[in-house]
This record gives sequence, structure tokens and C-alpha cells, in this order.
Amino acid sequence: MLIELVLDDITRQSTDAIVNAANESLLGGSGFDGAIHRAAGPELLDYCRTLGGCATGQAKIAPGFRLPAKWVVLTVGPVWYGGGQGEAELLACCYTQSLARADEVGAASIAFPAISTGVYGYPIELATHIAVDTVRGATTDIAMVRFVCFDNVTAAAYQSAMETGGFVLGRSVTPSA
Ligand code: APR
Repeated sequence: MLIELVLDDITRQSTDAIVNAANESLLGGSGFDGAIHRAAGPELLDYCRTLGGCATGQAKIAPGFRLPAKWVVLTVGPVWYGGGQGEAELLACCYTQSLARADEVGAASIAFPAISTGVYGYPIELATHIAVDTVRGATTDIAMVRFVCFDNVTAAAYQSAMETGGFVLGRSVTPSA
């Protein structure tokens, strides 16, 4: 599996699937979730209404509609409560479940945001290590996984997690100071 790390906006990725860090309603939220819905068009919200929500740590899939990506995987990351509420297991589950949904539709590539590290408050260094280790250990037919960072701090955390894990980077970014 090729792992890429890029500094970009996930709504612009033309991977087969992109992942949305959603909430349990799957009906759109603030910030990033809202940006995906705006880019996909109102059809995504209509489709999500049929999905019946999603539990934390699980994932569902929808068409990408007006997005460059064919599919949107909707996953719900854990809110960070200090680490004693199963947050790490739930976050790892978001990655394995997202890969599983993408596998089911035959996606060959997928782009992930740093799930739970925004509004949900998961510490970035811990979250990126879980993301990298879980993807590396996953059983999947997906050939390319791209971690999409919106800022330099996130990119630096992924870079460190990848180096620790001995990853070969397909493409890397060097965060500016
Ligand atoms: N592309 C890539 N990454 C982005 C983008 C983007 N366009 N916009 C934001 N990010 C980054 C954020 O900087 C953060 O590091 O994605 C990460 C996840 O942030 P959130 O969207 O806040 O996700 P999360 O912490 O899982 O919170 C989910 O936020 O949008 C609501 O409805 C959503 O209630 C849910 C909650």
C-alpha cells in the first residue's frame, strides 16, 4: 500500500473515496463536515437522511455526487474525554471501518482527514499515530491511502508518526516553520 501525506483541502481530492469526519446524525455539521456537504451538493444530505445515522467508531458510505471523489465515507470519531473512555479503540475503528466500506465498493484509493482532531479535541500526536498504525496494519485491497492535512501542525504530526512507524512515503510535505 502506498501512503501519501499532503497539505490540501480534502474536498478537492480525486481519490476514489474521501472520508468525512461526521457526527452521529450524518446530517452535516460545522466546518469541515459542512464544507464536504457544500462541495457535494444537496444530494449528499438527501442521501444521508436515508442512512439512519452512524454510531461512533463506525462508518457508512454515500456517493460523492458533485465531488471529484466517487464516494464519501462518513465516519464518526470519538470525542476526546482524556483517553479513559475507549477513545483510542474507537478512533482506530473509524479507520478500519472506513477502509472496509471503501473496499466494499471496490475503491482503490482513499483520502482521510485527521479524524477527531478538530471540534472533537483528540490530541493530534496521539491521533496521527493511531491513524498511521491502523492503516498500516489493516487488511484491505486499497492500493493508496492519502492523509490530507489542513495545516502544518497536522502535517508535522503525521510525518513524525510515519517516520516512527518506518513508513515509506509516496509523497511527503515539509511543513514550514
Ligand atoms: N481538508 C482536510 N482537513 C480539514 C479540512 C479540509 N477541508 N477542514 C478541516 N480539516 C481538518 C481539521 O483541521 C482537523 O484537523 O480536519 C480535522 C478534523 O476536524 P473536524 O472537522 O472538526 O472533525 P472532528 O474533530 O472529527 O469533529 C467532528 O465536527 O464538523 C463537525 O459534524 C462534525 O460534529 C462533527 C465534528
